[in-house]
Amino acid sequence: MEFKRVCDLEGIVKLWNRNIEVVYPIDLKLLGQNYENDKQNKSIMGAFENGILVGFVIYKQWTYKSGNLKPNHEIGYINSIIVDINYRNRGIGTKLLEIAEGNLIGLGVKKIRLGSDTYHFFPGIPLECLCSRQFFLKRNYKIEDSFYDLICDISKIKFEKLPQEKCNTEKYKVETLKSQDRKSLMQFLCKSFPGRWYEEFEEFFNIGMEDRDVVVLKDEDAVIGFAHIYDNKSKFIGPSIYWRRLLGENYGGLGPIGIDKDYRKCGLGVFILHKSLEILQGRHVDKMVIDWTDVDILDFYGKFNFMPWKEYKKAVKEVL
Ligand code: ACO
Ligand code: ACO
Repeated sequence: MEFKRVCDLEGIVKLWNRNIEVVYPIDLKLLGQNYENDKQNKSIMGAFENGILVGFVIYKQWTYKSGNLKPNHEIGYINSIIVDINYRNRGIGTKLLEIAEGNLIGLGVKKIRLGSDTYHFFPGIPLECLCSRQFFLKRNYKIEDSFYDLICDISKIKFEKLPQEKCNTEKYKVETLKSQDRKSLMQFLCKSFPGRWYEEFEEFFNIGMEDRDVVVLKDEDAVIGFAHIYDNKSKFIGPSIYWRRLLGENYGGLGPIGIDKDYRKCGLGVFILHKSLEILQGRHVDKMVIDWTDVDILDFYGKFNFMPWKEYKKAVKEVL
């Protein structure tokens, strides 16, 4: 068995799909988008038998700023690790993880997270990868809370029949982004979501996200809330539509969503969510996903019949 860096993303796609396509179907477009655009210090290590890729690990160190947050070089990530089913239980996964961890530790990393990296595929260990939980526990990862991706077929919802918002929303406007509001959007993100979401908006506009993919809530001319939405015309493949092949032709997605700190808890979150879903329904979206939510907020999305679809376990290892 030879362990060396992988440059050929097509080999990764094949290995990935041979093993977990039934629950996480990937393609070169998504893998290329996520790996190539990520500005962190990153690597892919592969295990080869007679020149054939039989396992890989993608790992990263947080070396690039996240909006106004400075990078923390002591944090590393295992983006994903897969060993082909026909080659498991021979120590290949152990060796790949050891190489990734060793390289990260050599660079000064003190804490390693499973998933949840920038341009992640998984917010944690997917529930479907049950056997790997034991693998990581044995290797000193601590398994913590759950995150969820939620699903709903919105073609079945009659939005006019749902209870109306608690607050008086007449003063506010919800619409897809107009180019003249981009500046206000960025100012709002800088104020209320100055970290990863602010960074992502700057980056995603450069790699395919368009104004039609963003819904804004406005108080007069000022943006005070946003939702990132997706349908089958979205050029940037965001997390809520990563697994779009499981969602049928008219797939959609939403996330993240956020309200200005000074306007929360008075019904505006429900208002923008409601309007965003109506916009997606107007684009004939059927099945859609809201990604990476935590358990506290399930009721918020549950108001619109969104239900847990995928579960991930947050996992982290402190390096001694
Ligand atoms: N003979 C028999 N058993 C062996 C041998 C050997 N020569 N060498 C190792 N083993 C045992 C190990 O002791 C280990 O058991 P332990 O965990 O009780 O110690 C077990 O086999 C598995 O260890 P490895 O062989 O090193 O691991 P493997 O190559 O099977 O890969 C992995 C583990 C990557 C989790 C694999 O099961 C997999 O690809 N699973 C599906 C995808 C997945 O779940 N990936 C993780 C998702 S989360 C994320 O990516 C962030
Ligand atoms: N945890 C638990 N319940 C919540 C939360 C929360 N974080 N936020 C709202 N709710 C509940 C409220 O209790 C309320 O229920 P009720 O009507 O039965 O009283 C309902 O959901 C809606 O409340 P709103 O007043 O409409 O919510 P708000 O305007 O505060 O907007 C939002 C909700 C968007 C989550 C806002 O609080 C926010 O921006 N939070 C920070 C960012 C965030 O967490 N975004 C969601 C992450 S998940 C994702 O983006 C896919």
